Amino acid sequence: MDSTRPIGVFDSGIGGLTVVRALMERLPLERIVYFGDTARVPYGIKSVATIEHFTAQITDFLLQQNVKMLIVACNTMAAVAADVVRQRAGDIPVLDVIEAGARAAVAESRSRSIGVIGTPTTVNSNAYARRIHALDPGVRVYSQACPLFVPLVEEGWLDHPVTRLTAQEYLKPVLAEEVDSLVLGCTHYPLLKPLLREVLGPGVRLVDSAITTAELAAAKLHALGIASSHAGPAGYRFVVTDVPLRFQTIGERFLGRSLGAVEKVEW
Ligand code: DGL
Repeated sequence: MDSTRPIGVFDSGIGGLTVVRALMERLPLERIVYFGDTARVPYGIKSVATIEHFTAQITDFLLQQNVKMLIVACNTMAAVAADVVRQRAGDIPVLDVIEAGARAAVAESRSRSIGVIGTPTTVNSNAYARRIHALDPGVRVYSQACPLFVPLVEEGWLDHPVTRLTAQEYLKPVLAEEVDSLVLGCTHYPLLKPLLREVLGPGVRLVDSAITTAELAAAKLHALGIASSHAGPAGYRFVVTDVPLRFQTIGERFLGRSLGAVEKVEW
């Protein structure tokens, strides 16, 4: 396979740019096509059937862009529709944030007591607990849905008293379970890391699935012999289904750098 082909990364909106950011840092020579379904976000409160349908559309779009690997950056899609992606992708390797997050959590937890936070759909699917138990059946998993975190992050309230109070409320039962690691099971949560560290204290390690996904992608590309060695500018495309108000500002916050041109898909 031609190693200069891009990696396709997708999410329900712009949150998946946290994964792109980690990929850009870990794999600076790779080309990336990012797809964000900004017209239909949020997915985290939608039904499984709807998410499967949307996921199939996005997968087909990215396969048409001739990608060499697909990365499901959205925890909600990874939780309920990863099989849809794998069926359509055929020989193209597929990675998802849940697989990466589960592996990192099991590797990092000493007490084998792990917390997971995510959207209601992700938590209800039990996908993290299943993946963690497939790796180590003896681990105790405590999951907590945090539906208010996505709008708070999109509002830019990363260090705001309302967000702190919300986090204290959501994390009270998690702390009571005495977990030593907490998986940030949603694209938006890495932006809350400083605040979550403050609320949780030093005894709990945060597992950022964006970083572990980039590590896993690097390992897979090398194992398959399709890592890019192209020395020129990497080349990034950002494709969305809508360009909402404040898109640029919020997107750049997630990406940690300027977004450049954004394409609106016609389908
Ligand atoms: N991208 C979603 C996730 O990681 C969060 C936003 C949404 O609900 O669509 O679960």
